[in-house]
Amino acid sequence: MKIPVLISSRRLQDKVKQLARQISRDYRHRTPLIICILNGAFVFMADLIRNLTIPAECDFIRLSSYGKTTKSSGRIKVVMDIESSVKGKDIIIIDDIIDTGLTTRFLVNRLKRAKPRSIKICALLDKPARRVVPVKIDYPGFTVPNKFVVGYGIDYREQYRQLKYVGYLSQYRKV
Ligand code: IMP
Ligand code: MG
Repeated sequence: MKIPVLISSRRLQDKVKQLARQISRDYRHRTPLIICILNGAFVFMADLIRNLTIPAECDFIRLSSYGKTTKSSGRIKVVMDIESSVKGKDIIIIDDIIDTGLTTRFLVNRLKRAKPRSIKICALLDKPARRVVPVKIDYPGFTVPNKFVVGYGIDYREQYRQLKYVGYLSQYRKV
């Protein structure tokens, strides 16, 4: 299936550099703990951290919300937790796309209980049309329309993560 382009590889790379510059400036005297939400954010995370000019720690968490469908279940589970201690740290959450906002809210609330010094959110894509709970994205990439997007780490049923661009599925089977 041919996947139409929504955001080209060039635009993604420009945005990643811009976000990395902003983060490097804002955290210049700190060493943030950057937490990547797996699996979707791994490509974005990898590009982002290589453009930082400050020291940073990285960790990974895997949450399940969608399962294998394109509809959010609203139930979120920690499938794989971070190993780092969060207490007193400056946390930056790296997400691929914020849709209903339920996953982000769950993670922020969970991390807050571990008493970090600060928590900020960096999300490559924002799909505001489907928001259920408000989320303040401190470092936003692009706003996308209410389409199912794939590529640059983001999947549909584990496919299309390897695309260099962000595209969308013009048709998919709603489950
Ligand atoms: P939320 O809890 O509804 O905000 O869901 C966020 C997660 O759902 C994202 O991190 C993605 O993994 C997944 N998701 C939301 N929208 C899309 C999409 O258009 N394509 C692929 N995955 C999506
Ligand atoms: Mg995700």
